[in-house]
Amino acid sequence: MDESRLRERLADLTLEEKVHLLTGDGFWTLRPIPRIGLRGLVMSDGPSGVRGTTWDERHTSLLFPNPTALAATWDPALAERIGRLNGAQARDKGVHVQLAPTINLHRTPLGGRHFENFSEDPLLTARVGAAFVKGVQSAGVAATVKHFVGNDSETARMSYDARIGEEALDELYLRPFEEAVKAGAWAVMAAYNKVNGTSMTENRELLTGVLKERWGFDGVVVSDWTAIRSTEESAGAGMDVEMPGLPTSPWRDRLVEAVRAGRVAEELIDDKVLRVLRLAARVGALDGFPDPPPVTTPSDARAQLREAAAQAAVLLRNENGALPLNAPRRLAVIGPNAVRFSAQGGGSAHVNPDRVVTPVDGLRRALGDGTELIVRPGVYPHPRLAPLPLALTTEPETGERGVRLDFFDAGGTLIESQHRKAAHFVFLGGIPSGTARIVARTSMTPAEDGVHTFAIAGAGEYELRVAETRAAVTLTPDHGDPVEALLRPPEHRVEVDLKAGAPVPVELRYTPAPRSFGAAFGIGYHEPRPAEDDALAAAVAAARDADAAVVVVGTNDDVESEGFDRTSLALPGRQDELVSAVAAANPRTVVVVNAGAPVLMPWRDEVAAVLWAWLPGQEGGDAVADVLIGAAEPGGRLPTTFPASHDGVLSPVPAEDGTLDYAEGTAIGYRHYTSAQVAYPFGHGLGYTTWEYESLTVSGGVAEVTVHNTGSRAGREVVQCYAFAGGTVRLAGSAVAEAAPGDSVTVRITLDERLPVPCALRAGRSVTDLRTGTTRTDIG
Ligand code: BGC
Repeated sequence: MDESRLRERLADLTLEEKVHLLTGDGFWTLRPIPRIGLRGLVMSDGPSGVRGTTWDERHTSLLFPNPTALAATWDPALAERIGRLNGAQARDKGVHVQLAPTINLHRTPLGGRHFENFSEDPLLTARVGAAFVKGVQSAGVAATVKHFVGNDSETARMSYDARIGEEALDELYLRPFEEAVKAGAWAVMAAYNKVNGTSMTENRELLTGVLKERWGFDGVVVSDWTAIRSTEESAGAGMDVEMPGLPTSPWRDRLVEAVRAGRVAEELIDDKVLRVLRLAARVGALDGFPDPPPVTTPSDARAQLREAAAQAAVLLRNENGALPLNAPRRLAVIGPNAVRFSAQGGGSAHVNPDRVVTPVDGLRRALGDGTELIVRPGVYPHPRLAPLPLALTTEPETGERGVRLDFFDAGGTLIESQHRKAAHFVFLGGIPSGTARIVARTSMTPAEDGVHTFAIAGAGEYELRVAETRAAVTLTPDHGDPVEALLRPPEHRVEVDLKAGAPVPVELRYTPAPRSFGAAFGIGYHEPRPAEDDALAAAVAAARDADAAVVVVGTNDDVESEGFDRTSLALPGRQDELVSAVAAANPRTVVVVNAGAPVLMPWRDEVAAVLWAWLPGQEGGDAVADVLIGAAEPGGRLPTTFPASHDGVLSPVPAEDGTLDYAEGTAIGYRHYTSAQVAYPFGHGLGYTTWEYESLTVSGGVAEVTVHNTGSRAGREVVQCYAFAGGTVRLAGSAVAEAAPGDSVTVRITLDERLPVPCALRAGRSVTDLRTGTTRTDIG
């Protein structure tokens, strides 16, 4: 990069232009300066796919398996390919900066954004994260590693003070960021929280001292959205860009004034602008610099997602070869998530895919007509209603499926009208200016007679009409976090008696609060349904009459999301009871867990098999079916420890004075739990074949491990090396081995260059396998 040419552009700018460039110019953009050939940089969330600048089902994105799933492949090469696919999506959407990957750690399984992070282990996180960054950037798009640093949980995330000791900070929490910077990351996002007393957007020691000076980071430090709450302190500490630049921004004019008054040196501003120009040059947004190579989403993208989801799936238990399923004549597919499948978590990571394949769809396709599927949800654990299904709607203007969304100004004049293929709407910015009222209307044709439940979901003033029924309410969010208030708003339910086949008008009127930066509202719905006891009994009866039962349980995006942590690891609602009852009715009960973060599985010894499917993205249902029938190997291994109970689980909740004490030091995850506290250890995961570990040798920082496929199928093994020293254990490296039945293969594992020396090195299948000792060598 020819820096002198960047400096020439800088020299052409006025102070106002420079500072305004550093302050968001819209929710997702920086301002263009055509005079110097600078186009407006466009940013987009996030780690599960590239949403783009709107939250709108008309602008679809590929929905990837959640990041923990990606880490479960333990395969940096795959993470790089998936990163490149993200980059391709960004290019197709005109996005220059992707706000991903999230590389905070799984300090506690209760962390709300656990599903968005890779692992509890810093080395695995660093290796997968760095590979993802390389992949995204190979497409000419900036990756933004976030949230720097200590944003490992969500409760009071805007204000808590993570008290992290030097060793833990260095060895655990900074490590993934350091490796991402070494891998060449072009952007870093500063977190909301404080670390050791100082807000991360004002933390000179970490932003300038560590990130920019010690690691030599030459990219842009962007704030998390609204995380900058000061002018001089944040600008002086090393922040480069304030997002999203709301009218209340502490930068823009206030920063210009601070420079004029001599409270912020102009050289500091110049350094920030240079960084933004460098970023623009890197992503092809600055004239006179080479365009990145042309990259577009490949035609096999869906196949890549399906394959990645299968590679990520972790077979936790498989008794007597219960899996792969042996072409059952009649299969009961039970469980709430079989029907209302969680392909992704909630919060800013959300994207709008053009389709989601559920496990029922996948199994139907995979098993074909030879198998009868009996589908029963069994229980209703979802705290909120799903959006009104499109299949029941007729949009009044076009006669097609969907909802008409009209925007009116204060005088009642229609300013914009949209045909939407959704019944739930999110605007982060993007509400037509001058809007005083939004009306969503459709005609709904009930599929059955009975009491139908509708819900207004949102915060603000609403009026809902369904046929002759009318409800007017003001809903107030019960949480302070702005993202949570927006994306997990309160709900007001209304029951209406309707006749099958007779269309009724449904209309929701919404008055947005003045000057709100966003809005989210919608019409929820569920059809007349039996009482839960009856639904559960029907599911058990279906299992009893079937050759095998697949029970799909899990969480949802009301449980795993942003702005709050989980308060329990238990599956929501009566799902545990459902699994036990089904297992008692049918010995061939296979449980598929559809969740991003660990849940307790008190029934795990009662069932024949447990397949952990994660939040596997839009093609997830096909991937689950592939693994269940054995068309694909369950390739995943746990990148995080699954606790047996709440015993030993760290709390994400700060003390009353706002401090969150990382008192455990470096002892998180597998370094923290006793064996009795663990249900499934870090690294665990079965395959459909068996392996023997034959030898381990080490030389020059590389371990060579030979494994032998002793089973009757080709397989995939994640060979793991751990270092033991002074009573502690840590991951030293890993590699993926693939071998045909009967074959041996030797993998080379690049060892972590920061291993304690001397140490004992052991290779095997999971951290607990190794406590009892398998292949071992000592390095000193
Ligand atoms: C999240 C970030 C995200 C940003 C923009 C914040 O609330 O913490 O991860 O990139 O919003 O959506």
